[in-house]
Amino acid sequence: MKTSKEIRQEFISFFEERDHRFVRSSPVVPNDDPTLLFTNAGMNQFKDVFLNTGKREYVRAVNSQKCIRASGKHNDLEDVGRDNYHHTFFEMLGNWSFGDYFKKDAITWAWELFTQYWHLPKSRLWATVFEGSAAEGLEPDHEAIELWKTCTDIQHNQILLCSKKDNFWEMGDVGPCGPCSEIHVDLGEGTCPKSGKGGHVCGVNIDGCWRFVELWNLVFIQFNRLPNGQLERLPACHVDTGMGLERICRVLQSVDSNYSTDLFVPILEKIQEVTGIRDDTDEKKVAYRVIADHLRALSFAIADGAIPSNDGRGHVLRRMLRRATRFGRVLGMHQPFIYQLVPAIVAVMGDAFPEIKTQAAHVARVIHSEEESFGQTLDQGLEIFEQMLSGITAGSARIFSGSDAFKLYDTYGFPIDLTRLMCEEKGLTVDEPEFEKCMDQQRLQARNAAKFRMNLGEWIVLKEGKASSFTGYNSLSAETSVIRYSKNDKNQLLLVLEQTPFYAESGGQVADRGTLIQNGQKWNVLDVYKEGDSIVHVCEGDTIPDQSAIQAVVSPENRSAITRNHTATHLLHAALKEVVGQHVNQAGSVVHPEYLRFDFTHFDKLSDDEITRIEQIVNRNIRANISLQSYETQYTKAIQNGVTALFSEKYADRVRVIQIGAVSSELCGGCHVHATGDIGSFRIQVESAIASGVRRIIALTGHTAEKLTREESRAIQDAKRLLNVSHDSLAPAIEKLLEEKRHLEKALRESQRETAGNDANRMASQAITMDGIRVLVHQLKVDSLEALKDLGDSLRETLQPGIILLAGEVNQKPTLLCVISQDLINKKYHAGDIVNQVAALADGKGGGKPHMAQAGIKAPEKLPQALLQAPELIRAYIQSR
Ligand code: SER
Repeated sequence: MKTSKEIRQEFISFFEERDHRFVRSSPVVPNDDPTLLFTNAGMNQFKDVFLNTGKREYVRAVNSQKCIRASGKHNDLEDVGRDNYHHTFFEMLGNWSFGDYFKKDAITWAWELFTQYWHLPKSRLWATVFEGSAAEGLEPDHEAIELWKTCTDIQHNQILLCSKKDNFWEMGDVGPCGPCSEIHVDLGEGTCPKSGKGGHVCGVNIDGCWRFVELWNLVFIQFNRLPNGQLERLPACHVDTGMGLERICRVLQSVDSNYSTDLFVPILEKIQEVTGIRDDTDEKKVAYRVIADHLRALSFAIADGAIPSNDGRGHVLRRMLRRATRFGRVLGMHQPFIYQLVPAIVAVMGDAFPEIKTQAAHVARVIHSEEESFGQTLDQGLEIFEQMLSGITAGSARIFSGSDAFKLYDTYGFPIDLTRLMCEEKGLTVDEPEFEKCMDQQRLQARNAAKFRMNLGEWIVLKEGKASSFTGYNSLSAETSVIRYSKNDKNQLLLVLEQTPFYAESGGQVADRGTLIQNGQKWNVLDVYKEGDSIVHVCEGDTIPDQSAIQAVVSPENRSAITRNHTATHLLHAALKEVVGQHVNQAGSVVHPEYLRFDFTHFDKLSDDEITRIEQIVNRNIRANISLQSYETQYTKAIQNGVTALFSEKYADRVRVIQIGAVSSELCGGCHVHATGDIGSFRIQVESAIASGVRRIIALTGHTAEKLTREESRAIQDAKRLLNVSHDSLAPAIEKLLEEKRHLEKALRESQRETAGNDANRMASQAITMDGIRVLVHQLKVDSLEALKDLGDSLRETLQPGIILLAGEVNQKPTLLCVISQDLINKKYHAGDIVNQVAALADGKGGGKPHMAQAGIKAPEKLPQALLQAPELIRAYIQSR
């Protein structure tokens, strides 16, 4: 039996022999494409080539790409576990032509690989071709039909015309697209459980059919789908093919399901080992499969830098993990266990994707912590779900309330797809419109408009050429010319220059600031970003440029501050690995002129001691004034030499290395100091947690670090002067002061209580007697509500049976307090009744316990009259009992 490793390699070699360049898989988390949550196809990393905004030094490529389809246009989440050939994570084998060969070679080679190398029986292979679309103004793909007939020996009746839904491939709502031709395999009779049931007839492109399965999609990219829905023809025609490795392994390994291939079996066995459940019932089988599938997606996404959270891609991960956790309950697992399966993924995939090996401990910790936190609400939610079910009577419409589904989501963290699935198991349908209504309401409250950069107008071209060259590593100014310009939605001028010393925001380093000058006209550069191979300068100013020479000048102070923080970031990264451990990996970084921000994978808070050691190591390396070297090399060579690379970054084949002596060696395209001494000094300002397993350091260098030290030192000086103590005695002196304060406060309280007691005795003598009850109404000034209450308590002790009404002015606010002795409370007297009756006379209101109640007064001018009437009200109250 061929192993998956061999199959992957045979595909790659087949196309390498046909002059294709092997390109590494890009991260599954596409940090540089805001239109995508996850890499969903092998072509994603070549989007710029198709759109003609970027170039590669090769025109044919081959690879095996990590893909996740769990959201957006391509979403297979709901099919996982229901069939045996859909996955949220899968590997896509693909070959590409960038304006080079087209349909003929793509079809011929696909057929050759399948039938001559892998010997798939021709009688079982079916080809589909795009039938055209009148609505889009597209003709049927006659060329492809002809090519299938003339360049291959496929049986002609096994070439089918299919609609846009299946045979026009689009990356997303916008982006490269085109007609496609797919190859499907007929797995033979008996492979589809639906065969003959509920009107199902097995066939190619029949929804949910298990027998005819798509293997390879050959896309002929010719268009760009614009945001307005129209198709724009691209300047060149390209080929983009994709074949799911899991499916082809299933066919070549002659097994009954993707889950029976060597890509899954070790993972399923590990699940059985960890759960101790070995059971072949359908319910358990689905649970094994969902857990294995979701674990693969989660592991790769987390290894590439994503973290479960409440929005965006993090939310998709959270949903998947929660589904998997719930399926764990089906296997009787009530404690976190999914994290224990990570080594099985490493064993299967670690050779092809080393990042999963290096990141294994981090992946396991993140999964464990998510399992733990959801585990706390899951059982409670499942109980509530059962209660909700009991409200649905047998005879009624089998609908599960949308607001209940929302409650499960909102309070217990149940993703809707999980609730949907649990309902389906009980033969129920969720009232989705009602659920959506609840969600809309919630969204309305927390709407967060996405921010996109967008060019409003057309680009005005002044000179041929698309790409800009960056000249700013060594020089901060350039005399150059404008290639094209445009305006954005904020009416800012956008300029693309032939050459530029301006660094465009990337790799965490913010864009340079500075000016552009042409014929005496000056523009301030507010931002700089990359669009394909172009560098776009966002400028302030209305005048538009012409073809004459333009001077581009980067602000030197701003750039120096940025380089200090960038080199310090590399030093910090190295020091963290030294002090905290080698598992520390960069999870995000901002290099700003004022500060550097570094996010890294680590679970525990750094101790004061660790922070000090990190600062010491970085500052020692600054004082060593180590010269920086930068050089270009092959990516693979750099990795072999142990250069630090970020798994969440997409690197070209030629990479730039920044080497700081023996301290640090990192792949980096950013700007750095000449020698570490230029950094001056380094201080960590804040260390905090930003997500489970991810911590953040904010640090300062050069003059900002100096400023921080100065401010701290000034604050200490002030404190020393005020306390008149030396440096060493400062902390003990503050401690002593606090102790004295506590002591004095205690003494004050005691003395206040004593005074209240004396006052109480004096006041008690003024009480009058009504029906044997001693009644006192008294107005006074007090320091605090506490003091008023203390006084009330003392009077309550002295006057028995007694009713006391005190009107005190606390913080200039009149307050009424009524207290009643215990024997009256036993007779159901309530202080709240009395205080409210009196307060009402001065527009006040209040309440409290039977023995003590208080009320605020809104109309203080009415208070004297109210107090005059109070004894009579109290008399009436006593008589009414
Ligand atoms: N982009 C196409 C797909 O994903 C072919 O690779 O199916």
